Formats: sequence, C-alpha cells, structure tokens
Amino acid sequence: MTAKIELHLHIEGAAPPALARELAARKGVDTSGMFAEGGGYAWTDFTDFLRAYDRVAALFATPEDHRQLAEAVLRECAAHGVIYAELAISSDHVAEGDSVRFAEYLAAITEGAEAARAATGIEANFIATTIRHLGPDRAVHAARLAVACDHPRVVGLGLAGDERVFHPADFAPAFEIAREGGLKLTAHAGEACGADSVRAAMDALKLDRVDHGVRAIEDPALLARILDERIHLATCPGSNVALGSFPDWRSHPIAPFRALGVSASVSTDDPPFFATDMDREYVELTAAFGWGEAEFAAIARDALDGAFCDAGTKAALAAKL
Ligand code: HPA
Ligand code: ZN
Repeated sequence: MTAKIELHLHIEGAAPPALARELAARKGVDTSGMFAEGGGYAWTDFTDFLRAYDRVAALFATPEDHRQLAEAVLRECAAHGVIYAELAISSDHVAEGDSVRFAEYLAAITEGAEAARAATGIEANFIATTIRHLGPDRAVHAARLAVACDHPRVVGLGLAGDERVFHPADFAPAFEIAREGGLKLTAHAGEACGADSVRAAMDALKLDRVDHGVRAIEDPALLARILDERIHLATCPGSNVALGSFPDWRSHPIAPFRALGVSASVSTDDPPFFATDMDREYVELTAAFGWGEAEFAAIARDALDGAFCDAGTKAALAAKL
C-alpha cells in the first residue's frame, strides 16, 4: 500500500479515546457525555464539536500527559501507513503565552515523537496553531512563542477554531511575525464558510497552504488563482462529511480539485471525533471515485510538495513514497 503523508491532524483532536478515558479516570474528571457509542467522542454540530474538542484537550495538562499523547497519536498514524505527519499543536491550549511552559511542552511532545519514530519510523513536525475564536491578541502571543522557541520541529503557524468569527485580516499581525521568523503559514478556511473565506485568508495572511479550503470549489476564479499560486489544500474528506459540509463522499470536491490539477491531499483532522483514520479515508475515496495505487501515490507526492519540512527531509521521504 502507498505510504501516506498526513498534513492536517490536530494533536488533541487525535487523542485515542482509551488514553483519554485512562487520564480522566486517573484525574477523577467527570466524562459524562464525552464519549459516543461507537467509541469516539460525542458532539452534535460544528459549534458543539469545538466545545467537545476543548473538553478533550483539557484532559492533557502535564508534560507527561503530552508526551503520552504525542507518542500515541503518531503510533496510531504509523499503524495506518503514515510515514510523515505535521501535527497541529496549540500553545493556546497548553501555554497561554508562557515561553517556559511552551518549551516544556515542546520537549515533552518531542520525546513522544522520538519514541514513536523509534518504534515505527514515522517522522513528525509541529505546526503552532492558534485558535481563531480566542482572538487576534492570543494569535500574536502564539506566533511570538512559535518563533522565539526556535525549535527544529516547529515548522509553521496555523489558524484553527471557529471560522465564523473575526476576519482573516485581524490575524495578519500574527502571521507577519511568523513569516518574518521564518515559519511557513497555513490557516483553516473554506470549511464552515464559503469561497470568500479562502480568498480572504490567502489575501490577508499570505498562506503557503490552506487547511480544508474545500469551498473554493464554488468559485472558478479562485480555483484558477490557487492553481496559479500553487497553493496546496490539506483537505479532510471524512471530517467534512461528518460535519455536514458535503452530504456524502462522492460530493467531496477533492476529486474535481485533482481533476483540475489543484494540489490537494488527504488528512484526517480529528479522527476519533469523525469516526475516521487514514485507512478509512482511502477506502471511502476508493469506493467514491475508484481511486487506486496510482491516484494515492500522486496524492502523497502532492502532500509532500505541500509539506513544511526541510528539503533534506523531503528528499528522504520522497524516496520512501
Ligand atoms: N476546524 C476548526 N477547528 C478545528 C478543527 C477543524 O476542522 N479541528 C480542530 N479544530
Ligand atoms: Zn482542522
């Protein structure tokens, strides 16, 4: 099976439910309503998903919790054929602008990532991802922390959270700090809002790639620009279907994107929230579009092209694809 590249995976959103249960039990945290019947996490709509996400994230508090989380998430990725992952990490959740706590956090998740690599060979980097609904000031703190930490695995700045609040331009100062500090840039757009949200984010934040970006499908001029500027779209079909952006897998725009020549890859976003994993994504995409080895190999090459790792890492990974 083709090796897989995962560019869009939120570390807390990927927390294995068994680990979350264990931590909650150890800490005496009430988990009523947290877990769904199928074994994942429970939520009802996009707003409630963001609330449920924060509740799961809050279980992970100490460096040891985070070390365990990073190792578990990356081992799970490797079990589904992923050879390289860029994890969205959140200084907003863990450090709130405190550089000492952020450094401890990075040391802990790096230890977890190294353990996962020793066990499975998986490579990983981190994208410091600020939470949009916490506002532009927090984003500036997150960008400053991400630059100042000067950590080899922190390769980019991202923006997640509630796309319906604030304007991308509000986050331009944070993204400017990150760009000047040598970080690559990505932001969630075109998931909960339409094509204009993708254009606005590209304009205001000078993105290297877009997370989701799927509603760009509604705007041919924007698609032409995405092609022209070689912007990579880190799409998450299973997440979009689960959250109801598209009614089913066959309606997901990854197929028309790729037919048009847009560089678009497959990621899982928050697998236990959306009853997915990389193997399920591939199975569903095969069922929906008849894709096989050739298509998935091309997707992995595009993902690597859109990845934020250095050229040496890219070359080593390309040799494994
Ligand atoms: N969208 C917005 N915020 C998020 C997501 C997402 O898909 N996953 C985790 N936080
Ligand atoms: Zn996401």
